[in-house]
Amino acid sequence: MSSRSFRVSISNTGEEFACSEDDNLLKGMEQLSRKGIPVGCRGGGCGVCKIQIDRGEYRAIKMSRSYVTREEEASGIVLACRVFPQSDISLTVLGKMVKKFELYALPAQRPEPTSPPAPPPESTACAAPQQNHGQEKP
Ligand code: FES
Repeated sequence: MSSRSFRVSISNTGEEFACSEDDNLLKGMEQLSRKGIPVGCRGGGCGVCKIQIDRGEYRAIKMSRSYVTREEEASGIVLACRVFPQSDISLTVLGKMVKKFELYALPAQRPEPTSPPAPPPESTACAAPQQNHGQEKP
């Protein structure tokens, strides 16, 4: 019997990938084949792959309580290397992984800056001097 495959979307960058129910989400993420995906212990013991499951069903196996408390796990915060999809999933990358993950996203997938860029400073150049061609003001 073949295993099922699900769509996983990453809210930080808008990227999507397919992940088999037999593969953990970190392994699926690595299929994106780009920089910024953490290479940690892959066994639930280092905490670098912390994510928030925003939507979808999953199966989680034992992970270190040093990195994910019971309360966090109950609210969907898990380690990607210890979670297997059981439906399509939407997730948010958390913690140490966020900065590099977003930095190395493809340009079209980088998140919008949170505030618009500052306008250019007022010009301090002097205006061209006006010439009166010898005409005196009354
Ligand atoms: S890679 Fe270490 S906890 Fe997931």
